[in-house]
Amino acid sequence: SLDLSEQIKEVTKESHVRAENTELMLSFQRGQVTLPQYKLLLCSLYEIYQVLEEEMDRNSNHPAVAPIYFPAELARIKSIEKDLEYFYGPDWREKIVVPAATQRYSHRLRQIGKENPEFLVAHAYTRYLGDLSGGQVLGRIAQKSMGLKSGEGLSFFAFPGVSSPNLFKQLYRSRMNSVELTAEERNGVLEEAVRAFEFNIQVFDGLQKMLSVAGNRQRQSSTDSNAVHGKTLQIPGTF
Ligand code: HEM
Repeated sequence: SLDLSEQIKEVTKESHVRAENTELMLSFQRGQVTLPQYKLLLCSLYEIYQVLEEEMDRNSNHPAVAPIYFPAELARIKSIEKDLEYFYGPDWREKIVVPAATQRYSHRLRQIGKENPEFLVAHAYTRYLGDLSGGQVLGRIAQKSMGLKSGEGLSFFAFPGVSSPNLFKQLYRSRMNSVELTAEERNGVLEEAVRAFEFNIQVFDGLQKMLSVAGNRQRQSSTDSNAVHGKTLQIPGTF
C-alpha cells in the first residue's frame, strides 16, 4: 500500500490540473496578473489562512496534527496581513471582500477543526505544499506583472523559515506518512484533499467573477454617461 503522501498526490492530480487552468492561475502563468486580481486573492487567502491556522494551533497536540504542525516555517497569516496593509492601507480590515466560495471554504475548515481534526492534514497539504511548490515562481511573476518593487506586497510568497523548499517538502511528506490513521480516516483525508482543491478552484472562479462584474459595471457606467451626454445634445432648443 502506498504512503499517504503518494496517495494524496495521486488522488488530487486531476484537481491540480483543473486548479492550474482556472482563469486566475492562467493569468499568473502568463505573467498577466493584475493588481485587482492579486488584491482580491489576498483578501480570500486572509480569510482562509486565518481559520486554517487558528484550527491548526487549537489542535496542535492532536496526534494527526502534531507531526505536520510547523508554524514557524509555514504560518502565512502575518505575511498576508502585511501585504493587505501595503495595498489597502491601515484600515485594510474594513476593505476585505471575498466571494461566497471563500466563506464556504472557511466554514468547512472551522467545522473539521472542531469535528475531524485528522482531516486538517488534507487542507494543510493542499495549501502549504502548493505554496512551497509553485509559490516561489509565482511570486517573481507577480512582482514583474504588477511592476512592484522587490518584495513589496509579496510577503505571502516568501518563506524565510524554509531555506530549501524541496528538502522541507520531503520532511513534510515523511511527517504526513508518520500519522497513524485507520483505513476509514485515511479515506476521509483523501476525500478531504480533493474537496480542498475544489474549494480553491471555487474561490478563484468566485473572485474572477467579482472582477468581471465590477469591470462590466465600470464599462456600463461609462457608456451610460456617453448616452446621457449624447441625448442632452439632441434636446431641441438647447443651443
Ligand atoms: C505541486 C505548479 C497551482 C497545490 C506543484 C508542483 C508544481 C506546481 C510545478 C511541483 C510538482 C512536484 O514537485 O512534483 C503549479 C502551478 C500552479 C499551481 C504552475 C498555478 C499557477 C496550485 C494550486 C494548488 C496547488 C492552486 C492548490 C490550492 C499543489 C500541491 C503540490 C503542488 C499540494 C504538492 C504535490 C505533492 O508533491 O504532493 N504545483 N501549481 N498548486 N501544487 Fe501546484
